[in-house]
Amino acid sequence: MSIDSLKCGCGGSKEYFDDVADQWDSMRKGFFSEAVREKAYEVAGIEKGAVAADIGAGTGFITEGLIGAGLRVIAVDQSESMLDRMREKFARTGLIDLRVGESENLPIPDQAVDYVFANMYLHHVESPPAAIKEMSRVLKPGGRLVITDLDEHGHTFLRTEQHDRWMGFKREDVKQWLSEAGLKDAMTDCVGQNCCADSCCGEESASISIFVARGVK
Ligand SMILES: C[S@@+](CC[C@H](N)C(=O)[O-])C[C@H]1O[C@@H](n2cnc3c(N)ncnc32)[C@H](O)[C@@H]1O
Repeated sequence: MSIDSLKCGCGGSKEYFDDVADQWDSMRKGFFSEAVREKAYEVAGIEKGAVAADIGAGTGFITEGLIGAGLRVIAVDQSESMLDRMREKFARTGLIDLRVGESENLPIPDQAVDYVFANMYLHHVESPPAAIKEMSRVLKPGGRLVITDLDEHGHTFLRTEQHDRWMGFKREDVKQWLSEAGLKDAMTDCVGQNCCADSCCGEESASISIFVARGVK
């Protein structure tokens, strides 16, 4: 299957996430576990005191573990409602900076952060290669971009019911996009767990393997 044939024509992702913001934490627990973020932190080699960006941060699944490990986080999302939920949970820590922003114009200056994380974000953006270039832009030299997302799959209900734009990715494509964004040592690996979802409109269930990809600026 070519990458173009996997693209969805439907929109409405911001409205979808605004609508599900209150339920996202319990939905997320049904989809995948903390093992995903632990693998992402391991591949990034996170260090206390560093600054990370969490792109497509949602209600703060990745951010939560980072502030727990002593990092400061700039969390960016298109959905104010998702960020509002994160603010309620973590603003008192003083370690997060919440910014509303879009994939191809992140509200972060050039070379500002040590790490960029993007969990289950890439399959929602219009152009994954452009989103990766933009995430690379905000990394300091030596900084690491770590993406966790779905392997290529055939479950169309995720496009119609959850506003996914892309039906997962070939790992080779993601590696190529990291290299084209100027990142070195592009690698991918298995996270070791699947994302599980049931269709609300039928009998179909999905269990899709999750990959981690990393590039170094
Ligand atoms: C599947 S959720 C993942 C949220 C969080 N990373 C997690 O692991 O729980 C995808 C998030 O990406 C955000 N998002 C989708 N497309 C975006 C875009 N083009 N620009 C910024 N954020 C986007 C959504 O609003 C949503 O919060």
